[in-house]
Amino acid sequence: MPLVSMRQIDKYFYGTAANRQVSLEIERGEIHALLGENGAGKTTLMNILYGIYQKDGGSISWKGEEVSFSSPKDAIANHIGMVHQHFMLVETMTVSQNITLGLRSKRHPFPDRAAIDARITELSGRYGLQVNPRALISELSVGEQQRVEIIKLLYRDAELLILDEPTAVLTPLEIEQFFQVLRALRDQGHSVILITHKIPEVMSITDTITVLRDGQSIRTLRTAEADEQLLSQLMIGRPLQPVIPEVLETEGSRTALAIDRLSLTDRGIRRLDHISFEIRTGEIFGLAGVDGNGQKELAETILGIRIPQEGSISFFDTQVQQLNVQQRKRLGLAYISDDRHHDGLIMDMSLTENYLLKAFMDKRYSRYGFVDYRACRAATTEAVTSYRIKTRGTEEPVRLLSGGNQQKLILSRELSGAPGIIIAFQPTRGLDIGASEYIQKMLAQKRREGCAILLISADLDEIQAMSDRIGIIYKGALQDIISNTGNLDTTRIGLLMAGHRQTEES
Ligand SMILES: Nc1ncnc2c1ncn2[C@@H]1O[C@H](COP(=O)(O)OP(=O)(O)OP(=O)(O)O)[C@@H](O)[C@H]1O
Ligand SMILES: [Mg+2]
Repeated sequence: MPLVSMRQIDKYFYGTAANRQVSLEIERGEIHALLGENGAGKTTLMNILYGIYQKDGGSISWKGEEVSFSSPKDAIANHIGMVHQHFMLVETMTVSQNITLGLRSKRHPFPDRAAIDARITELSGRYGLQVNPRALISELSVGEQQRVEIIKLLYRDAELLILDEPTAVLTPLEIEQFFQVLRALRDQGHSVILITHKIPEVMSITDTITVLRDGQSIRTLRTAEADEQLLSQLMIGRPLQPVIPEVLETEGSRTALAIDRLSLTDRGIRRLDHISFEIRTGEIFGLAGVDGNGQKELAETILGIRIPQEGSISFFDTQVQQLNVQQRKRLGLAYISDDRHHDGLIMDMSLTENYLLKAFMDKRYSRYGFVDYRACRAATTEAVTSYRIKTRGTEEPVRLLSGGNQQKLILSRELSGAPGIIIAFQPTRGLDIGASEYIQKMLAQKRREGCAILLISADLDEIQAMSDRIGIIYKGALQDIISNTGNLDTTRIGLLMAGHRQTEES
């Protein structure tokens, strides 16, 4: 008997099917991939299982019994846990407080922190989830926050863990550690549903794969019987296309972005340590590094959100230290945020309104100081078509788009106009193959048009495929800058990312 069986699940949103006759069976002690492109219906299906959404058709059984959870509380009480695509931790509270949030009983209003922390430490040891129970969430890296989310589920005795695109936020090293955790979970009898669109990951860690496409379950197969081409075929309906790096034409280029000895200290911690580099027009500079080594601080300092204590930044030949974010953007800076919820989109506003957020600074959409809504809607409609954003219309709230489609909207908005400098912070994080390919092509196109691009990515494959030069950042300092000439030494980059200095090698 399978642990979970979902049969012929239907789910409609305003008449459009997000899930159509989807079936899925999960065995005990397996890692089961739910593979599919952006908008395929993966999150929806799992939200139904977890009690966030109610199904419009079909049936679910859990341990052989027909169930229908009316809320996540119900699902948790039945030992099903889910970590969402966007974490739901309270930043101002500690790890331990977050883990026990909502568990406080009436009989014991004052939790026994020592006992709780001991249990957390026990769980973290058992599954290899290193984390300090007393640390504040806001101090943790994304990878650490994810461990907290998983411990939170284990603390509630989850037997089935649903993880929605867990690796999208992790670096290669963290992914390896995370896979160890998944193996430990499986070996101790837990079942894991891994939502993803990354085929190589599916191949290396899962036991079984169910492919969703356009809201339907296309096929379930054993990972041992699958290969990358087959999965790609099932998922997107066509074989994979490799990204081809092109040779850079430096003739006639000039310096677009110059960073000189930039240092930033925040609450006593040195976040950026004398960083210097330049990016020329028509060049992609890839910044490689383990998440949390100053990438975000660097991007935000260039953008103007953070003020450095030392050093200078110039766009073309203008010093920008004294300029605010809007003034910098007017000089031709485009910023693609890694965090679509914080500084990318306003979820309750429509696609067009979100487009307007940028547009009201832009001459093309304003007349006599008023925003030209129609022009803006036309631009949004065009973006929806050219980026293939899956939506019912430009006037629907952004909240209703799938994660990947939200990211496409940010990209289309930020790349519209004619930026001279683009900061692309994890531009393809959370995107499926089709969308990633498209965004990489867009960036390559912008580079051909003469943009200077700072590509910050934890995905070394992406950095390598796209960049002309690669800088490696570690603890806020640039370890080295390497030209990307075909035969790149990735082992060396990996070592530099982990903090090993050049002096240690030949
Ligand atoms: N609350 C909602 N209201 C209306 N439509 C929704 C809602 N949630 C999802 N949808 C729609 O259902 C479809 C499936 O979305 P879902 O989020 O399940 O996709 P996904 O496979 O998780 O994609 P991604 O990889 O981008 O996260 C999408 O077209 C989406 O716009
Ligand atoms: Mg999703």
